[in-house]
Amino acid sequence: MVFTNTLLNGRRCDLRVDAERISAIAWHDTDPRLEPQPGEEVHDGGRITPPFAEPHVHLDAALLGARRPNRSGTLHEGIANWAILREELTAEDVRDRALRTAEMYAATGTLRLRTHVDTGSLLAVETLLSLVPELAALGIELQVVAFPQEGILRAPGRREQWAEAVAMGCHAVGGIPHFERTTEEGWASVRLAFDLAEEHDAFIDFHCDETDDPMARNLEVVCAEAIDRDFDGKIVCGHCTALHSAPDPYAAKLIELIAESGIQVVANPLDNVVLQGRFDGYPKRRGVTRVDELWDAGVPVGIGHDSVQDPWYRLGTGAMIDAAYMLVHVAQLTGEEQMRKVFRTLHQENHLPFGGAPSIEIGGPARLLWWAQDDPIDILRDRSVPMVLRGPLG
Ligand code: FE2
Repeated sequence: MVFTNTLLNGRRCDLRVDAERISAIAWHDTDPRLEPQPGEEVHDGGRITPPFAEPHVHLDAALLGARRPNRSGTLHEGIANWAILREELTAEDVRDRALRTAEMYAATGTLRLRTHVDTGSLLAVETLLSLVPELAALGIELQVVAFPQEGILRAPGRREQWAEAVAMGCHAVGGIPHFERTTEEGWASVRLAFDLAEEHDAFIDFHCDETDDPMARNLEVVCAEAIDRDFDGKIVCGHCTALHSAPDPYAAKLIELIAESGIQVVANPLDNVVLQGRFDGYPKRRGVTRVDELWDAGVPVGIGHDSVQDPWYRLGTGAMIDAAYMLVHVAQLTGEEQMRKVFRTLHQENHLPFGGAPSIEIGGPARLLWWAQDDPIDILRDRSVPMVLRGPLG
């Protein structure tokens, strides 16, 4: 297969794939062109990018939304429904839905997934961890975050389950400090997560201040701990929606601190635009974190799809382009370069939890996306589906 006259890293090139490897790249500004061979599949024009990465999904709950409908569409009812559904999980069910969801992601170009798993079900933890090698053989990289959906300090036994999940081999320690009973217990849960991550040499990935409460103060504690304990580049904070509602002087201070701490913020616009603002009359807040201001401060921002037809969000197909499309609207990122940056996020910043975006180079595996259109704005507008080459991992 050969791609001719295509854009890669801002340059025109021809690129040939042989036996799932990239066998040649000819840059038009320096190299002779590649001539298509007789019988060779040719795709002309467009753009080549690395595959997308998904930094925030819940595979244990994916595709469960229809099983116990959320009649109000609220976060509250979603949590209540999940608590019931969780008790009925079987390994086969978790495995089947996770594999189907992973294939939905792969079909639209996403070959790396970081899933949270509720540590309230160690069966789900064990099942998702067992899928790591199985998905790798299918060309899909999976990371698992030990996520205590109902907090670790609200009830006896939860902290132990959460610690056991991490000991089972999860890649990252999760947490939900804003859901703990008091502000002080939220802060304590943050510090316990750092302790656990240090003990297991794991990453950290919090659901952090996913609330409209402008008084939420967990993210600043995560930043301070990250700086003091030298966790630069090892922490993701998802949602951070309180920042949307924070007073501007405090938001400015906090964003500066986030930048200093090396934390990546992941916005989840599909869920948050429908789950936040629910205590508002009109006008209703959007409840998506301050992406433009985080960008201005140099904070790496990722975009998560978060829910795929689960108890919190009945829609979603695992197409990351939909999350990007929603973010462009909700965060008002409709400037020309802003839209291109949102698209680029899916194949660049979204890889940071996995160690950075894979390079596309001669001799490397043919893991890449080919888009018939070359302008990301056209791709976003049409929510186009790329040709997905899922060559071997590594
Ligand atoms: Fe989440």
